[in-house]
Amino acid sequence: MKLFLDTADIGEIRRAADAGLIDGITTNPSLISKVAGSRDPKEIYLEICEIVDGPISLEVVAIERTQMVEEGRKLAGIHENVVVKVPLTEDGLKACRELINSGIPVNVTLCFSVSQALLAAKAGATYISPFVGRIDDISGEGMQLIHQIRQIYDGYGYATEILAASLRHPLHVVESMMLGADCCTIPPKVLWQLAKHPLTDSGLEAFLADWDTLEVEL
Ligand code: E4P
Repeated sequence: MKLFLDTADIGEIRRAADAGLIDGITTNPSLISKVAGSRDPKEIYLEICEIVDGPISLEVVAIERTQMVEEGRKLAGIHENVVVKVPLTEDGLKACRELINSGIPVNVTLCFSVSQALLAAKAGATYISPFVGRIDDISGEGMQLIHQIRQIYDGYGYATEILAASLRHPLHVVESMMLGADCCTIPPKVLWQLAKHPLTDSGLEAFLADWDTLEVEL
């Protein structure tokens, strides 16, 4: 299972990469807008690619097919690890097919239904990004979508990887893995929450207190 960090925050990306915990990065226009300030987003994209040696999803902002393809080619030119992210619209699906045909990997984003995921697979998408948390936000069952897409992709032999997105807490990650998602993308906060357990903290405290009674050094 691949673990991606869902952020454009260079400090957080370095922190996770230094620990050797992440396989790639996903970004979106909102995440970039939070960190860019006066910087050119392309500079930030390149910096990310130089830190993490894995798939780096960078999103187009055009909504028309030809312009999406043009933007996608420019993004792909930034670094060999770039995966172009396109929205799950009619134009996005057409752009996906065109980019895939020219050898550029594509992540189809903003997926909220099985029928959308089917079309992304038909368009040859490298990744499909179902947004679990945003479905939960409107009282739906986001995890059900991961389960259904897994069944359909396996049943019909689609190679598109399921990239569980909009994951908001550790249970989302665990459930995505149990249901067979190929990748999870998570915000930095959730990455570090995965490591936390109160029994680890109290256990360590007790071990160190017992060791201190020996009054020796290693
Ligand atoms: C995925 O690629 C998206 O960037 C992200 O997971 C969206 O998450 P959100 O719904 O928490 O904004």
